[in-house]
Amino acid sequence: MALYVIIYIEPSSYLQRPIKIGYPLSDKHIKEDFLGFGLGLRTDHFEHILQHQPDIDWFEILSENYLVAGGKPRYYLEAIAEQYPLVMHGVSMSIGSTDPLDMDYLKALKKLSNDIQPKWISDHICWTSIHGINSHDLLPLPYTEETVKHVAERVRIVQDILGRRILLENVSSYLSYQDSTMDEWDFLSQVAEAADCLILLDINNIYVSARNHHFDPLDYLKKIDPRRVQQFHLAGHSDFGDYVIDTHDHDVSPPVWALYKAALERFGAVSTMIERDANIPEFPALYNELLEAKNIAKLTLPDHPALARSNFGARKLNKASQQTSVVTQHAMQQKLRG
Ligand SMILES: [Fe+2]
Repeated sequence: MALYVIIYIEPSSYLQRPIKIGYPLSDKHIKEDFLGFGLGLRTDHFEHILQHQPDIDWFEILSENYLVAGGKPRYYLEAIAEQYPLVMHGVSMSIGSTDPLDMDYLKALKKLSNDIQPKWISDHICWTSIHGINSHDLLPLPYTEETVKHVAERVRIVQDILGRRILLENVSSYLSYQDSTMDEWDFLSQVAEAADCLILLDINNIYVSARNHHFDPLDYLKKIDPRRVQQFHLAGHSDFGDYVIDTHDHDVSPPVWALYKAALERFGAVSTMIERDANIPEFPALYNELLEAKNIAKLTLPDHPALARSNFGARKLNKASQQTSVVTQHAMQQKLRG
């Protein structure tokens, strides 16, 4: 008779252990340079940014909002692009679907890329549509060798069309497939290797999925090749106790800050931004939250030369943010101690 034992990892316990560096850093440079600390560009903040010109290092745009030339969004985008580096982040590539790639979408993406010259272009390792019906959600894939091959082939086609490597982001998930034969981190690594693409690691998504599927998020970090991690996302979520939803409508939570610190230890200085898509606060609140990310990076990597190249925060390291920083550092230490 077979005996099955289910092991449940307490969410608060897995962040207590220090992460070990598993990969030697290679001198094979395939990544763009460290860009610093950025924010998602949101319409609520257009006027503030143009009026006050905050010293944010870069902005990430949602590509789909700017695919049509002309109009108000493109007016603001072009004005902001004159002053800040931009990166493009999309939600419609549906790279894992078995539907044909949407060539009209890819052409529009390339046109936008030619117009605003982003530092890089990203989308998600997921599927969103099937038989032409769009779910409007970023759905996880079955993690199999067949899917690795399927996704990698499509990524290579997209990269040929766009003329550059793209970044694929890990999604948060609430279900898994019985057909999966590998862990998500192995799947992401194998696709990145087979397609020769880069990775956008969403730290909050790792935390959300770890809580929902009861895995150790440090295992995730340990298995990803640092040479391919180009960008981090940070975001807030909604915690319902038994499960967590990736809502992007809260501040970044202490356990996600703690996981961000572990990611910095593992991957070094990686361009970092905060995503906020609902319950969007005034710009200064997001600015101060992003200062937290920079403070944690400076504490974690005090001598890293790339961090010295970031101008963000130099003009406005105000009292409020320093106080927030102390609160968050205390919360992180508590979380890491358990
Ligand atoms: Fe994200």
